[in-house]
Amino acid sequence: METIFYRDWLFAVPACELTKAGSYVTHQVGSYGVVIVRGSDGVIRAFHNSCRHRGSVICNKAKGVSPNLVCPYHQWTYSLDGKLLWAREMGPDFDPSQHGLKPVHCRDLQGLIYICLADEAPDFEAFAALAQPYLAVHDLSDAKVAHETSIIEDGNWKLVWENNRECYHCGGNHPGLCRSFTDDPTVTGIEEGETPPHLQTHFDRLEDQGYPSQFRMAEDMQYRLARMPLLPGAKSFTMDLKPAVTKFLGRVRDDTAALC
Ligand code: FES
Repeated sequence: METIFYRDWLFAVPACELTKAGSYVTHQVGSYGVVIVRGSDGVIRAFHNSCRHRGSVICNKAKGVSPNLVCPYHQWTYSLDGKLLWAREMGPDFDPSQHGLKPVHCRDLQGLIYICLADEAPDFEAFAALAQPYLAVHDLSDAKVAHETSIIEDGNWKLVWENNRECYHCGGNHPGLCRSFTDDPTVTGIEEGETPPHLQTHFDRLEDQGYPSQFRMAEDMQYRLARMPLLPGAKSFTMDLKPAVTKFLGRVRDDTAALC
């Protein structure tokens, strides 16, 4: 937790889940409770979900809407941007401006909210600059969460992620996925050397239509971006290979078949 999760940027929530001023979600990262809330100015901010009086949890629910953030213990009341608005009988020397909620680093990347618990967050700009054009076309800020599910992996998380990083196992284990998605390792960019011609043709076709698609990997290999091709004949990650909905996400057009 100290080496990774308390130090690095973490994806937390889609911005569209916080639909209006006062919408909030709570998030637990190891020992730290975080509340992510949309302010009256529309800006999404993150705070430690811990009262500055005696440390009570402020928001107990997983999500909700509230005009202010009110601590249930002694009702200290914070505005949606974390300022302490009201604290009863604290005496003339008490300075509310010194008792706002402790902020957590928070960034909205094209509708995806990232948080970082470190005192000094590592650089976010390089990732944001690379990912922004790939995401922009999908207009995720105006999307809607249609379904939510949680998957609890009963195992070592590092093995789960190692598994996620290779599709060598896909053909033998995920026949549903492999109806539409190729397990060709060159598609995920893990092979050395040039992008194979069939894949470059796919990237070029989409980039010509205005969809950034080329495979890109961070120098330290901490993230990678690409608009992956579907198998011939597939238009979506569905079992019948057809689009599951008629409305396309964001500014994607119908003529961009198999845009993934
Ligand atoms: S602990 Fe929050 S008001 Fe006292």
